Amino acid sequence: MGFWKSLFSTDAVATASRVQSGASSAIATEPRVAFSTERDLDLYELEELCDAVGWSRRPLRKVRKALQHSFLVVSMWEERGAKRRLVGFARATSDCAFNATIWDVVIHPSYQSRGYGKALMKYIIKKLRSEDISNITLFADPHVVDFYRRLGFILDPEGIKGMFWYPD
Ligand SMILES: CC(C)(COP(=O)(O)OP(=O)(O)OC[C@H]1O[C@@H](n2cnc3c(N)ncnc32)[C@H](O)[C@@H]1OP(=O)(O)O)[C@@H](O)C(=O)NCCC(=O)NCCS
Repeated sequence: MGFWKSLFSTDAVATASRVQSGASSAIATEPRVAFSTERDLDLYELEELCDAVGWSRRPLRKVRKALQHSFLVVSMWEERGAKRRLVGFARATSDCAFNATIWDVVIHPSYQSRGYGKALMKYIIKKLRSEDISNITLFADPHVVDFYRRLGFILDPEGIKGMFWYPD
């Protein structure tokens, strides 16, 4: 199936989802977890995922536009027989040369603490590196700073501070 771009490669995820390789292991009811870079997602399914972690709702037309204009959109799916469920998501914007910023990293609560978030981040970083992008940034909520730190992200490198402008 062309939709599925690649299977997980980390041991933790492979164990958790019992991902198997080889033609003889294709048992239809075994859950499999896969990544996709398809950006034409079901926005209601994405909204459901974001709702599940308590994020505020955003207008779907703007979400659609954001996905269309992102450099990279990565979704993570659990496939069980003919059924599939969106279990993770992240996207990146980029100048396509030097810089990329990762946004909207989320794993469904029922699938957290199994190594999925780490696998998702590693996948997106690998994809960005394969495009020769070397400066990868993100904005971390305070409670996830250590999650990103474990993945090699540095807080305020050389004292550089993220700055924001908001309308009054
Ligand atoms: C943050 C999030 C993506 C992590 O996903 P996850 O699948 O639970 O994380 P993993 O199981 O892959 O954890 C990987 C490692 O990070 C650690 N970790 C996970 N969440 C953490 C947190 N909030 N703070 C510190 N460490 C964390 C794990 O203990 C694990 O450590 P290990 O490699 O030493 O075993 C997930 O909790 C989530 O979607 N949260 C809600 C949305 C959110 O806050 N997104 C971030 C917005 S900036």
